[in-house]
Amino acid sequence: MDALSHCIESFTTWKANVISDTLAVKGTELIGGSLRTAYGQGSKNIESRYNMCVGSMLGINAFLVAGRGLGLAHVMSYPIREVGHVTHGEAVSLALPHVMEYNLPVNLAKFAGIAELMGEELQGLGLRERAHLAVEAVKKLSVDVGMPQKLRDVGLKKEDITSYVDNVFDLHFPLVEANGRNASSQDVTKIFEAAIEYGENGIRVNCIAPGFHTGTNIGKEWHAIWPKEELAAYDEIIAKTAPLGRKGEANELAGLAIYLASDASGYVTGQVFIHDGGLTI
Ligand SMILES: [Fe+2]
Repeated sequence: MDALSHCIESFTTWKANVISDTLAVKGTELIGGSLRTAYGQGSKNIESRYNMCVGSMLGINAFLVAGRGLGLAHVMSYPIREVGHVTHGEAVSLALPHVMEYNLPVNLAKFAGIAELMGEELQGLGLRERAHLAVEAVKKLSVDVGMPQKLRDVGLKKEDITSYVDNVFDLHFPLVEANGRNASSQDVTKIFEAAIEYGENGIRVNCIAPGFHTGTNIGKEWHAIWPKEELAAYDEIIAKTAPLGRKGEANELAGLAIYLASDASGYVTGQVFIHDGGLTI
C-alpha cells in the first residue's frame, strides 16, 4: 500500500511532470492489478510478485522525479506510525483514502484516471463520480490485503489530534507543501478528524437506488446526447411500464433522502431503497 501511495501522491502532487506521471501511471496499474494476488498467493504467484517489485520501483522513482512529490498521506503517517506502533505502509494506508478525498476536487481527471487504472467500472459515470471511485478502489484494496481500517483501532484519539498535527506540520512541511491541494494545519486536523470518525459505531449506511425521475440531474449525460424524440418515446415507455404509471418526482426522492438522514430512520442500516415506481418488480 505504501508503494501504491507513492504512485498516487506523486501523480496528484502539483509538482508532477510528464516523466513522473508516466512512471506513476504504470506503477498504479501494476500494483492495482497485482497486490491482491501477490498478498494472497505469495511465492505461488511469481508474476504478481515481479509486478509488485516493478510497481514499487516505479513509484519511488515517480516521487523522486517529481521533486520529492508526495503529500499529506505521508505527513499523516508519522504520528499514526508512532502512536499506533504500525508499519509505515499500514500508517500510509490508513491515511491515504481520506487524503485522496480531500485532494480530489482539485484533480478530478487524474483521480478518475487512477480509478480506471485500478480496474473500476466507469462506464456512464460523470467525471466526479469516476474520480471518487479511485478512493473506493483504494479502500477495497486496503481491506483485501488486511490493512487496519480505523485510526481508533491503532490507538489514535480525537482529543489528541491537535498535538499530532502540531508535531508533523512544521517537521514535514516540504511534504505538506508538495500535496496536490493547499493545506493548512486546520485542514490536516479536519482530515484526521474525518479519518477517526469514519466507521465509528452509530454511523448508519443506506443507499437509494433511483429509477427515472423528473427534475433531477440523474442521467443528464444521456439527455445531452440522445435525440429529443427518442427521449420522449423512452419516457412514454417508462410511464407505461412502471406499475405506478409515471416517472418519479424530485421531491419524492428528496423525501426519502430526508427520512434516511433523520432520526426517524435511526434503526435502519445496510439497506438499499429502490425508488422506481415499481419498474424493477
Ligand atoms: Fe512511503
